[in-house]
Amino acid sequence: MDIVQTAFIPPAPVPRTGPVGTLRLIRTIYRNPLELWGEPSYNEPWVSIDWSFAHTIIANDPGLIRHVLVDNAKNYKMAAVRQRILRPILRDGLLTAEGETWRRSRKAMAPVFTPRHIYGFAEAMKRTTETFAKRYEALTEPTDVSRDMTMLTYDILAETLFSGEIAGDPDQFSHEVDRLFETMGRVDPLDLLGAPNWLPRFTQIRGRRALAFFRQIVANTIVMRKNRMDREGDKVPNDFLTLLLKAEGPDGLSRGEIEDNIITFIGAGHETTARALGWTLYLLAKAPWERDLIEAEIDAFMDQRQVPPSYAWLDALPLTRAAFEEAMRLYPPAPSINREPIEDDQYMDLELPKGAAVLVMPWTVHRHRLYWDNPDAFMPSRFHPENRDKIDRFQYLPFGAGPRVCIGASFALQEAIIALEILLHRFRFDMPGSYKPWPVQKLTTQPDRGLPMTVAPRR
Ligand code: HEM
Repeated sequence: MDIVQTAFIPPAPVPRTGPVGTLRLIRTIYRNPLELWGEPSYNEPWVSIDWSFAHTIIANDPGLIRHVLVDNAKNYKMAAVRQRILRPILRDGLLTAEGETWRRSRKAMAPVFTPRHIYGFAEAMKRTTETFAKRYEALTEPTDVSRDMTMLTYDILAETLFSGEIAGDPDQFSHEVDRLFETMGRVDPLDLLGAPNWLPRFTQIRGRRALAFFRQIVANTIVMRKNRMDREGDKVPNDFLTLLLKAEGPDGLSRGEIEDNIITFIGAGHETTARALGWTLYLLAKAPWERDLIEAEIDAFMDQRQVPPSYAWLDALPLTRAAFEEAMRLYPPAPSINREPIEDDQYMDLELPKGAAVLVMPWTVHRHRLYWDNPDAFMPSRFHPENRDKIDRFQYLPFGAGPRVCIGASFALQEAIIALEILLHRFRFDMPGSYKPWPVQKLTTQPDRGLPMTVAPRR
């Protein structure tokens, strides 16, 4: 049977055909930027738009993306709007740092993310997922899998960041994490209108108290660990916090930067993976012929007499990995990577003027009519090992590209495969009925009213 005929086409906004007025534009950007993009954004290599508040260029062409993110990356800084939203929270963390601070921090942090350290986290990821999975054993009602995956990836991060040693109540801490990113992570209409920075943003005022509380706990946790390292030397857990504290020093990270990076890892490193996991489970439930393949792969792997160490799972489960990668193609957790030219630039006949908003959007690139067959369909076979080479490096960008590529990509992939392996081995996830989750761009691409799903034991 032709695979195209059996492919599931999941919900997504239909590309807009007509022009859009300024008020509607601002409302859509505030509510759901994914609904903004018109036909040309999914059909043209690039689109240049003069909006009243910004000259915007949508960069879809892989060559242009490579030019902006790699070849001429020195001429591009992080977009002003994103910085205005995230910098008050993440300060000099890697995601929002620029110039010399970024260069020094990225170098100091490279040893933290070596394969050896990432593999070292595999057992904690496995243990945490197994503990988490217990809540599904007695489940009788549908559960919001989107929310559940956020809890799981938060638990994994808390374990790999601080080994659970937080200077405060862990439940209250995780509650404040939620509140902070929910209230502060949105584009404020005032930012789009170019209002001066001193004018308070409604979207940020609500998050300020949560931020102060949260920063205090992170600062206290760092002091607590530093004291323990001084007392116990190598006996402390080799988690992110220890690794970051080992990078502390005049050429490495300052204490404030360690704090900023802990907050950055929490901000950048759990909701993203959770979204990708949630969408994967949803897509597999709606494409049971794909789910059958993956369950068979996982069962065969787990039924071996000697299960290899969990860090080896990434390469041992190519179909599971392909489904996860295809889910990130259709619903990229980071739907837009925005840059601003520092000086006027040119790519072929496209002008990229200083100060323009250059949007490299995995959302449109991953669904682009020029670069993908049947772009809206869920077809994990695109990522099967025999097909993987046909995908251009710059047409698939869930983790970005170039010097600012996601530093946590292998952590996230390893975590996701371990989580899928354990969850899909034990449980069958379904979404009965006609409910359709609608993708909304907040900080990440998330289902607007969650993913209500049934979870039943398989064995
Ligand atoms: C599926 C999960 C994830 C996705 C889709 C994702 C996506 C991205 C993307 C697209 C960027 C580039 C942003 C840009 O160029 O403007 C990025 C950067 C970054 N990510 Fe991730 N990320 C994920 C998981 C993680 C994890 C687990 C961590 C940390 C533990 C992390 C930490 C970071 C940091 C620190 C940066 C900034 C790097 C720099 O500017 O040098 N991410 N991520």
